[in-house]
Amino acid sequence: MSGETHGHVPVLGPQVVEALAPAPGELAIDCTAGRGGHAELIARMMGSGTIVLSDLDPANLAYAAERVARTAPAVRTVALQGDFRHLALRMRTMGLPPASAVLADLGVSSLHLDDPSRGFSFSADAPLDMRLDPSGSRTAADLVGSLSEEQLATVIGHLGEEPLARRIARKVAESREVAPIKTTAQLALLVREAYGPRARTSRLHPATRTFMALRIAVNDELGALEGLLLAVATAANEVAQGRTGWLAPDARVAVISFHSLEDRLVKHSFAALESSGLASRPARKPLVASDAEVDANPRARSAKLRIVRLGSAQCAQARSKDAAPHDP
Ligand SMILES: C[S@@+](CC[C@H](N)C(=O)[O-])C[C@H]1O[C@@H](n2cnc3c(N)ncnc32)[C@H](O)[C@@H]1O
Repeated sequence: MSGETHGHVPVLGPQVVEALAPAPGELAIDCTAGRGGHAELIARMMGSGTIVLSDLDPANLAYAAERVARTAPAVRTVALQGDFRHLALRMRTMGLPPASAVLADLGVSSLHLDDPSRGFSFSADAPLDMRLDPSGSRTAADLVGSLSEEQLATVIGHLGEEPLARRIARKVAESREVAPIKTTAQLALLVREAYGPRARTSRLHPATRTFMALRIAVNDELGALEGLLLAVATAANEVAQGRTGWLAPDARVAVISFHSLEDRLVKHSFAALESSGLASRPARKPLVASDAEVDANPRARSAKLRIVRLGSAQCAQARSKDAAPHDP
């Protein structure tokens, strides 16, 4: 892979840095450092201060940390491997100051999908793995082998929004009676068989939704997001009570999601913070990629960026007045 592509193109980059407005000397967090694209933009804009990088995938995290250290050398980089749902606690334990800007760019990096050995893709045969953290205890093969037919149908139907979830779950259950399902090619073939003649008319590869559902389940992606949103809500309450938590009183939090279930969680959580007067949203609708960005990076098509600022709407107004140039 060329050093220039970094294995992943960050989506909505300019919108993210504008929303987070990271300032010199602040502490910013990239919960999902990935290949470091957003982190580089944030660190360059800060110029000085600290950026905390977190990722479940140690290889991505090391890559992002090296990239940021090289491109924004005056910014201190703190790399924390692990699940972002535990970040608040880890920051407190480490005695780090509260963060002013937080980004979570959910899901997997392009490199995960492009590296056949990780087992995320049905385009190449590989062990059915799908763990973002390679030391994680449960692979996709474990899930496919251990869930009941009913549970499999629920996972594939709910997380994958797959209309043929029941047929696929039945096919898997029948097949694993004969031999365990250990590879991506085995699973992709079973899904294709469950689709039957519909496979020919399907817009997506028949296995697309099933693979996405299993990936979300293996990495408990919705559980992690709920944990992060809860930590943001806790910090908003601490700010309202004048207590010091992991987020600064005017912290900006941005979340990019690629799945309707994720976006719904973010939307409801940020709306609830706003209606309780603990935070404000610059916009109710999510920001989405332009046609030009989608043409250049098709992955941006389903991206939705939502932003919340801690503190009440009145605080946000006062802040923007302070920041605005004074009348002569
Ligand atoms: C979409 S990529 C981020 C790409 C990054 N913004 C960039 O510009 O390169 C998502 C990253 O988040 C990581 N990830 C997913 N869930 C996570 C979690 N619960 N905790 C920490 N990292 C997670 C994945 O391993 C992946 O590297």
